[in-house]
Amino acid sequence: MARKISKRKQPEREVKPIKERMKIYSGKVLDDKVLEILNWMMNTKKIDSFDFPISSGKEACVFRATRIGADGKPEHVAVKVFKYETSMFKTMLQYIEGDRKFDPRKNKRLLVNDWARKEYSNLQLMHRAGVRVPEPYYLRVNVIVMEFLGEGGFQSALMEQVVLADPQATYEDVVENMRKTFDAGIIHADLSSFNIIIHKGKPYLIDWAQGVERNHPHAEMFLQKDCHNIADFFQKLGVKTSDEEVYRKVTINRKDDDRQERRR
Ligand SMILES: Nc1ncnc2c1ncn2[C@@H]1O[C@H](COP(=O)(O)OP(=O)(O)O)[C@@H](O)[C@H]1O
Ligand SMILES: [Mg+2]
Repeated sequence: MARKISKRKQPEREVKPIKERMKIYSGKVLDDKVLEILNWMMNTKKIDSFDFPISSGKEACVFRATRIGADGKPEHVAVKVFKYETSMFKTMLQYIEGDRKFDPRKNKRLLVNDWARKEYSNLQLMHRAGVRVPEPYYLRVNVIVMEFLGEGGFQSALMEQVVLADPQATYEDVVENMRKTFDAGIIHADLSSFNIIIHKGKPYLIDWAQGVERNHPHAEMFLQKDCHNIADFFQKLGVKTSDEEVYRKVTINRKDDDRQERRR
């Protein structure tokens, strides 16, 4: 029988160094509650070590961590920690409004947890629908563990930062992923070259917390904005497209869905 790992000794050994190493970068993001979660993740072997911060944004910090994979070899994972000290509550409410799964009347901490849960469930849905996203592994309160998109230990770059080898092919790939997203009933709602990672030459769509269902009151507006951002980015790289062209390709199956809807 596997020996039960002590839950009391681990904090002394692991949490302190983490706290010391990370506070420089992450401000208040790693509060005691978050450290407890990370510690639980280490005790239960979801992650083996917590490595370094990759990014610190308005609503979340992303870290690289390492776990022992199914084959017994160490592999990197990405850990996204949603901040409680965020100024994004107003924005969050706009997306959560009309989404019956989330109750905006809860306190702010719960709202942030809902936000994390929304990103995780969208990632799961997209992964199953064959949209190219980092594979989601675990959600615990406000912490998501997912596939690390990187090579040689370093994260792959955002589409905004790379020189694309074949802009036309990447454009078609992104639009195809947007179509699959739409067909699965979701609008990303913050899609741009800043939320697409080019990993091993392919675009991966990230950052799904604000994703809404197609029946959200603002779904149409969010979709048009996403299409505009993508059209605009690729037009500047010489791809012949327009907001309308991207929109048409993304929603190409909508009529079929509507017919199905009516038949029910
Ligand atoms: N799975 C991942 N693998 C590697 N890097 C990632 C991953 N997810 C996010 N990142 C990096 O972290 C940054 C922030 O992640 P993102 O989900 O966009 O959060 P936010 O923009 O809300 O801070 C990204 O721009 C990217 O550089
Ligand atoms: Mg982002």
